[in-house]
Amino acid sequence: MYNSKIIGLGKYLPDNIVTNSDLEKIMETSDAWIEERTGIKERRHISKGSNDSTSSMGVEASKIAIERAGISARDIDLILFATLSPDYYFPGSGVLVQDALNIPDCPAMDIRMQCSGFVYAVATADQFIKTGMYKNILVIGSEFHSGGLDMTTRGRNISVIFGDGAGAVVMTRAENESVGVLSSQLHSEGKYAKELSLIGPSTGRWVPEIMKENDPEDISYYPYMNGQFVFKNAVVRFTQVINAGLEKVGWKPNEIDMLIPHQANLRIAQFVQKKFGLGDNQVYNNIQRYGNTTAASIPIALTEAWEQGKINPGSKVVLAAFGSGFTWGSIMIQW
Ligand code: ACO
Repeated sequence: MYNSKIIGLGKYLPDNIVTNSDLEKIMETSDAWIEERTGIKERRHISKGSNDSTSSMGVEASKIAIERAGISARDIDLILFATLSPDYYFPGSGVLVQDALNIPDCPAMDIRMQCSGFVYAVATADQFIKTGMYKNILVIGSEFHSGGLDMTTRGRNISVIFGDGAGAVVMTRAENESVGVLSSQLHSEGKYAKELSLIGPSTGRWVPEIMKENDPEDISYYPYMNGQFVFKNAVVRFTQVINAGLEKVGWKPNEIDMLIPHQANLRIAQFVQKKFGLGDNQVYNNIQRYGNTTAASIPIALTEAWEQGKINPGSKVVLAAFGSGFTWGSIMIQW
């Protein structure tokens, strides 16, 4: 049995910055409301006419991660692509990345676990590395939300929150079993699937059916979120799943060097920080600048924290996520 560790990190954010005041011009909202409830000041949206896509952003983040890992794209044995906004209904975005990186043949798998997608993908990569089946795994989280949001007052409770972007890591075998991913916890509770969901288009709601109805009031092809219900579940599940991970590896909260919570809402992250008695230097947040980028939020934040020298060999790093499904999970990494 091998341990797995992260050896390269990268991120990609589209250039186009959309501030809260920009949103004030197109819907009834305010900078004060958005900042007070979510902490978000601005987010990135792919510009209309740009060539950026979910897979292309993933490719850009991957190129940086692969270079920093000191390997070449052809050394990748498996691609795991976490997203809720794939380029196509099918095939998944993983194979598009494989092609764009000129990797002639390697398995490429999409992970559809929404905000928990990156945590699920890291846990999956860890298992493939542990068994020895694959050595170098490219793990990507990428989301192109802005094209599919209801940018009117009707959709404001969701559309102000989400942003576009991608992050990627390269994972490989650790030579030392006390280093790398020490534990992963994964959960889901499908009875709340519809509380945060996008129902159509899907096989439950085929496109021709939508086109036939052509009902301007039909919001089933926009994301729906029961915000307060999600919020209440998020704070409970984040706490439980971080506690479970700490218990498994025998760490005390004050030993955490860096907690990277999924960037769903700054108030959720602050609640979790307070619950574990963590200082500001023990938690990394960037939702203020990027909004909620779902599966991309943890790898983007992890990359930034690493770039800023906040994660170093020996650091105890915790990744934790909660989101649509409901799904949640945590990963404990000895860097
Ligand atoms: N601007 C101004 N007013 C707004 C906006 C907006 N953008 N959005 C909603 N409001 C109004 C509502 O209409 C409502 O008005 P009313 O009181 O007159 O009816 C009022 O603000 C309060 O609305 P709530 O929805 O109750 O606001 P809440 O305090 O719950 O905040 C939020 C909403 C930020 C979405 C919060 O519920 C939240 O963060 N939930 C959790 C999100 C999360 O964790 N998601 C998981 C990850 S995402 C994924 O997995 C895809």
